[in-house]
Amino acid sequence: NFYCVILAGGKGRRLWPCSRERFPKQFVDFFGVGRTQLQQAYDRFAAILPQENIYINTNEAYSDLVHEQLPEVSADRVMAEPIYRNTAPSVAWAMHRIGRVNEDACLIVAPSDQMVLSEINFKNNLLEGLEFVATHDCLLTMAVKPTRPEPGYGYIQLGEYAGKGDIYSVRTFIEKPERDFARMFMDSGEWYWNTGMFLSNVRFLRKSLYRLLPSVLRNLDASKPDWTIADENAFVKANFPSYPNISIDFGILEKSDHVYLKQCDFGWADMGSWHGVYEAIQKGDDDNVVINSDVYLEDARNNIIKMPEGRLAVINGLDGYIVAEEGNVLLICKKEDSSALIRKYVAEVQMR
Ligand code: GDD
Ligand code: MG
Repeated sequence: NFYCVILAGGKGRRLWPCSRERFPKQFVDFFGVGRTQLQQAYDRFAAILPQENIYINTNEAYSDLVHEQLPEVSADRVMAEPIYRNTAPSVAWAMHRIGRVNEDACLIVAPSDQMVLSEINFKNNLLEGLEFVATHDCLLTMAVKPTRPEPGYGYIQLGEYAGKGDIYSVRTFIEKPERDFARMFMDSGEWYWNTGMFLSNVRFLRKSLYRLLPSVLRNLDASKPDWTIADENAFVKANFPSYPNISIDFGILEKSDHVYLKQCDFGWADMGSWHGVYEAIQKGDDDNVVINSDVYLEDARNNIIKMPEGRLAVINGLDGYIVAEEGNVLLICKKEDSSALIRKYVAEVQMR
């Protein structure tokens, strides 16, 4: 009864220029290891669940990329959204599809922009989580201790012990707080980071979504049990544009009752932004991170550098910067708080 939905429809703008809207981060083999972020996410879940229970939700624009990179996933398990509406409508549709197959399903909803250090702990943490949501009606977020006051994540305040394997009720969930709040949360020791993965059972998730995303759920009700996958896809294609544009974190987790967290120890790192990648990687001399690049560094510290093959960068006196080149773009940007800036630059460059 265990299922998984991998969310792979984001535009990945924060990792620009090594992630492009036409070819976002989840489809990139960032470290040259032979598997892309999406493939690595898939491999992690294929080690836990039957492969035929893994679904990939993406945007129509990327469904060819998904088929190319994961030919083993059958077409009925690649769900292609016709328009960008962020993750809440996407999760609602996946829950609906999986509910049709198995009303007793427990499911993992997971992003495709993460790195995991211990596959064994990952498997154990998730299986324990699945056991919990099989018998408890709740949304169970996978959480880790924060290591820096990153404003780009969800923060979760620890409540009461739930009486089972590192699971606690959640007092408050705050998505993407201001930096000052993020710092307070981190210093208090009571708050955890949301890794972006959460677990639930289909019946409870449906109930929660009915309350918090009623327009989407009522619309999906119009689909009939005897519909084929093609019928359902056509219906969703026509109706998806009317769904609200909201993330699962702002739309559901912040507002839901019965949210729990599991303290996880699988060595989580976010691969969604340059700062996240910088933090995730073993530092070289002078705390520089050099990704598959030929670089001559002198008197340079705390930088993250990614150059194309065949290019040599000579860098002197630089501290705390991103230097990334891909295609016709070279980005040199302060690493601290770079995510919002880079998003702005991408938008501005696209307008030119
Ligand atoms: N199918 C689909 N459709 N997937 C989407 C869409 C969409 O419209 N938008 C984003 N995604 C995918 C992304 O590709 C990514 O794998 C995942 O959903 C999460 O989206 P992000 O845009 O990366 O979210 P975030 O990083 O800002 O925040 C989330 O992750 C943090 C940890 O990395 C939140 O869950 C935070 O609470 C969390 O701390
Ligand atoms: Mg992300």
